[in-house]
Amino acid sequence: MSLQVRVLGSIAALLVLALLCGGTLLLLHARSVAELEVHTAFRGAERSIRDTLQGNVEHTVTLRQVVASFEGQRHVRAALVNEKGKVIVQSRIGLQKSPAPRWFENLMTPPPMASRIPINLPGFPCVVVLTSDPGNEIAEVWENARNAFLTMLAFCVATMAVVSLAFAYAFGFLRRFQAGLRDVAQGRYDVRLDTKGAPELAALAHGFNHMTEQLAAFSDSNQRLERQIQNLQEEERAGIARDLHDEVGSYLFAIQVDASTAAKSADPQVRELGGTIRDAVLHVQRHVRDILRQLRPANDLEFGLQAAIADLILFWSRRYPGIHFESAISPGLSLDRRSEEAAFRIVRESLSNAVRHGEPRAIRIAIFDQADGVEVCVEDDGGGLKQSDMGLGHMGLAGMENRVRALKGRFTVENLQGQGVRVRAVLPRMRALEDA
Ligand SMILES: Nc1ncnc2c1ncn2[C@@H]1O[C@H](COP(=O)(O)OP(=O)(O)OP(=O)(O)O)[C@@H](O)[C@H]1O
Ligand SMILES: [Mg+2]
Repeated sequence: MSLQVRVLGSIAALLVLALLCGGTLLLLHARSVAELEVHTAFRGAERSIRDTLQGNVEHTVTLRQVVASFEGQRHVRAALVNEKGKVIVQSRIGLQKSPAPRWFENLMTPPPMASRIPINLPGFPCVVVLTSDPGNEIAEVWENARNAFLTMLAFCVATMAVVSLAFAYAFGFLRRFQAGLRDVAQGRYDVRLDTKGAPELAALAHGFNHMTEQLAAFSDSNQRLERQIQNLQEEERAGIARDLHDEVGSYLFAIQVDASTAAKSADPQVRELGGTIRDAVLHVQRHVRDILRQLRPANDLEFGLQAAIADLILFWSRRYPGIHFESAISPGLSLDRRSEEAAFRIVRESLSNAVRHGEPRAIRIAIFDQADGVEVCVEDDGGGLKQSDMGLGHMGLAGMENRVRALKGRFTVENLQGQGVRVRAVLPRMRALEDA
């Protein structure tokens, strides 16, 4: 259950409890008020009758007047009853404004009060009967209690509305904050929070924005450094390749020429030796060419990514004829030089990893345009990553990731449930980086 629902639910429960307690207190208070009012009115009426009857009552007319004086009374009814129990005259209770509902009347009705006051008129023995009627009082108490309860209810509803609005505002901010943190975790540092509103939340938003600005600055400088490192690496590789080519290559060529000459010698021993040396040199030359190819990818890319990858496939399929290589490279990919180089290196390292560390029967290479860049995907079915092998000293995967990160792309290595490995990179088309 979300925190918002929990807090609002608790507040609502407390308000309902407060309403129930308030309502119960109101009922108890109303009941005692109704009882007291009716009781006081009844005793007053009784006293007034007795006081009147203390004087000389000589005629039934006087008695009728006494009873008539109760006409319209709100709480007490008076009746003159003769010795046979017949009601001679009876007062009527004043009209109730609007009666209370039956359940409320049942709750509020105090014990009924009645009193019989005998009068001994010569020749006319009779009694004045007083009875209580709480209806008017209960109607009044009902109106007061209902108004008080409705006021409390309105207050509770207003409180809930204000608290809900405050929570919606605070939780809205928390949700944006959470989404911002998620963006940051995914490496998006350009996210900013609105700094308007309550000072506490504005301070949080300022802190968050400051953090993302710092992270963006660090990330930029990291990317610059990575690009510089790659440039340096490439320069160094190019230097090594140049030396290998110029120094070793030319000597190998010279040895090959000498060996070829020796292989044409009249002396069969020299001829055989020359032939062996020439074969060995040809073998070393092939290896040096391979090494040069690895060191200078730019040369590989001279005829485009598609041709370079076809070369790679040829290179590996010669050594591993049992592996089926498949490549699907969309034509007309708008990759800049760096992204193209990165794509090539990813494919090259992934192929090398697949054949070195796994036992694949097939390797699939796919490069295609996607919504946010160009996707490079190399998938093999060689059995999957061995976790124990991952770690320090293994530079291939880390190097690919750094390269992609320097281009602000995304890189993932998936272990396909012990089946194989899928390396994926999405390289953004960033022409701006071309000159960086
Ligand atoms: N396609 C793959 N199949 C099986 N295991 C793999 C595959 N790719 C990588 N691995 C595992 O991940 C480890 C790390 O790979 P990584 O390319 O980083 O280093 P490496 O190939 O061991 O060494 P380096 O590439 O630095 O010469 C490998 O040692 C291997 O255990
Ligand atoms: Mg490797």
